[in-house]
Amino acid sequence: MAGTGPVDPGCGLCTSDLPAAWVLTYIDGDPDGEGTREALLTVGNGYLASRGAAPESSADGVHYPGTYLAGFHNRLPGDGRETAESIVNLPNWLPLTFRPASGDWYAPGRARRLHEHRALDLRSGVYRRELVVVDRQQRRTRLRQRRLVSMAAPHLAALHTTILAENWSGRLEVRSGLDGGVVNANAPIERGTCGRHLNGVACGTDGPESLWMVAETTDSRLRVALAARTRVSVGSRSGTAHRTVGAPAEISQVSALDLAAGEPVVVDKAVAVFSSRDRAVYEPLVAARTELAGAGPFEVLAADHAAVWAGLWERLRLDVGDEQAWQLPVRVQTFHLLQTLSPHTVDLDVGVPARGLHGEGYHGHIFWDELFVYPFLDLRLPELTRAMLEYRHRRLGWARRQAAELGRAGALFPWQSASSGRDESPARSRNPVTGEWVPDHTNLQHHVNLAVAHSAWRYWETTADLSFLGTTGIDLLVETARFWAGAATYDPADDRFDIRGVMGPDEYHDGYPDRPGEGLDNCAYVNVMVAWTLARACEAYSLLERHPGVTPWFGPDVGRPELDHWAHVGRRLRLPFLDDGMLAQFEGYADLAELDWEHYRRRYGDLRPLGWYLQAEGDSTNRYRVSKQADVLMLLYLLGADELADLIGHLGYDFDRACIPATVDHYLARTTHGSTLSRVAHAWVLARTDRRQSWNMLLAALGTDLADLHDGSAREGIHLGATAGTLDILQRCYTGLGIHDNVLRLDPLLPEGLDYLRCTIRYRGRLVDLTVDHREVRMGTPPGDEPPIPIIMRGRRLWLAPGATATVPLANRDG
Ligand code: BGC
Repeated sequence: MAGTGPVDPGCGLCTSDLPAAWVLTYIDGDPDGEGTREALLTVGNGYLASRGAAPESSADGVHYPGTYLAGFHNRLPGDGRETAESIVNLPNWLPLTFRPASGDWYAPGRARRLHEHRALDLRSGVYRRELVVVDRQQRRTRLRQRRLVSMAAPHLAALHTTILAENWSGRLEVRSGLDGGVVNANAPIERGTCGRHLNGVACGTDGPESLWMVAETTDSRLRVALAARTRVSVGSRSGTAHRTVGAPAEISQVSALDLAAGEPVVVDKAVAVFSSRDRAVYEPLVAARTELAGAGPFEVLAADHAAVWAGLWERLRLDVGDEQAWQLPVRVQTFHLLQTLSPHTVDLDVGVPARGLHGEGYHGHIFWDELFVYPFLDLRLPELTRAMLEYRHRRLGWARRQAAELGRAGALFPWQSASSGRDESPARSRNPVTGEWVPDHTNLQHHVNLAVAHSAWRYWETTADLSFLGTTGIDLLVETARFWAGAATYDPADDRFDIRGVMGPDEYHDGYPDRPGEGLDNCAYVNVMVAWTLARACEAYSLLERHPGVTPWFGPDVGRPELDHWAHVGRRLRLPFLDDGMLAQFEGYADLAELDWEHYRRRYGDLRPLGWYLQAEGDSTNRYRVSKQADVLMLLYLLGADELADLIGHLGYDFDRACIPATVDHYLARTTHGSTLSRVAHAWVLARTDRRQSWNMLLAALGTDLADLHDGSAREGIHLGATAGTLDILQRCYTGLGIHDNVLRLDPLLPEGLDYLRCTIRYRGRLVDLTVDHREVRMGTPPGDEPPIPIIMRGRRLWLAPGATATVPLANRDG
């Protein structure tokens, strides 16, 4: 994965032997794509992350240095109305530049760039950069940089720079600083506010090589502190800072050295970051200074960091063949998932931000995207899923308030939320085609709490973590069941329950053509998932009744009549169908017009922004049978064909499974994939009916951010749901991996493009090494005292004993 700039024989990266399947590389590159490259070159550790902006750059329309702490949010006043909370762009710790005597400080555009090569070394978690510039006096200078945000010590980040005067000698000055003058300006939604989230920036020096900076958010009053140390040396000579410069919110130290051509100058910068959200901290600046004082030089930090990364790669491995073009994207996705969610995130009380810690897209808000993220984590880092479901659980207060506002019992998590769990969904969105702000009704997607309940159950099913089910899990299931049982109204004429005025995942339909924004009736996705949740809540309740010892108290007080009511609603919810027996997306879907796809394709080409196009024409997607993303097909993604068919049967409908392929074709042909989540769901659904198409869909999903398929939106952050969802297709879908009735089941079916797949899952505290190819499945587990693991492989039961390996041939189903 490389930029195509010219190779420089003097460049340590052009000539390096870093293995291609482990390195994301860019050579030079156009200014338009710089924002996306910066997002993809983000380094972080699940607590702190910094975009891959050049240390000499500032936010200038091309570059955007952004540093974020998970869960560090603030709300700004804007245009007389209250705005949504945003993740806050923190003081920039990167600033570092140089100048030869009487020259200009180097900054993009100030000297001619001869070569710039950037390489994200995924294996060691280090971002490397090599830059060659020449100034007006023809002095050529080379910079070699390495950057990390430590996985070993999550409050530490470091930047190591070697400067080489290639054809000149004399005095070199190096300036290293902290910049608190930053604003949030990465995403268009921030325009309309001043973007300035930090108040009271104060800074100073702690001796000749150290700087500090503190700041506080304007409204949430969160404090952040940075302590930075820069050491400059040439061989055994060190350059001491002789000047401190800076405006009130910016501070730098300038060091000077005399050097000979070819003599390397080493600049070792380390920074410690703490905030008032951190635990076990007296005061953030005290903590930052203490942490920095104990931090070793870059090489030591890098060694510790690489050791932790080595362990993480063991845990997160997903091998598809280093010689294959898709191995690198698979690793890039894994890497970026870990930038946002790592073992360091477990203690932070944060949710799953849709755009990672890579930018300010969607203000850093939390949607339903966790539904696509947890299944991968459940089998790798299940403590993360649990931590993030507990984050939801702590926010039941706001969710109950939101339900009460609708006159309902139970809890409703808002469509978008941030630190407190309060509703942060925007009332208006900007149509990028017209620039107009238009009403936004996406908050009718009450299905977000179904996603949370589903995730809670799947986590329990995968891990058998009864202590979770007895506390967090049961509350989430019960409160969701209560909300939806209350939302269902009884129609005695048909002896059916209806759920009216909501939206499914497809954001192209927020109402009927004559009643836009008022929601839809009996969305198939919502009603089926409600029936599923009601059944799981009843099941969880009776399970816990049989294990009274697991709960500290028997939490939610659910009486027999309420359980009976849930069971009743779960048997009698109404589902809409099309004439041919296929599930209709919602009641009235059949009355909508067909879109003239050819006409719109000719007119606009790429139809992912179809909703915006139609709106700009004075038309509306509400009128047509079109979907932005998988909606009905989400049911197959989440439940699979068997469970879906059982549920529909349980609801009292005759459902012929034979119509599933036609249902897939129907909706797939009418979906624009305007959301990155869509390809994940479709790749999954197609895996059993059309493996080739599934594989192509997966490859497209793997390229979502790398190839920036979504119109430059990756510059505002990666798409975390698609990132993890893609990995999960390899992990669970192509291996046919599932856990039912306490048994691990496998039913592999690799697409032709994939020769083999190897991963190590963590199943109920046990490591299981799994290799699947087109001929056989190999399983192994390390030695130990535990009992054998029961496994069902394509219907055949076997027991995997500790230390044993088992190889099972696959009868040829490919032919
Ligand atoms: C999608 C939603 C998603 C959100 C955040 C939207 O474009 O339609 O399903 O939750 O992006 O990723």
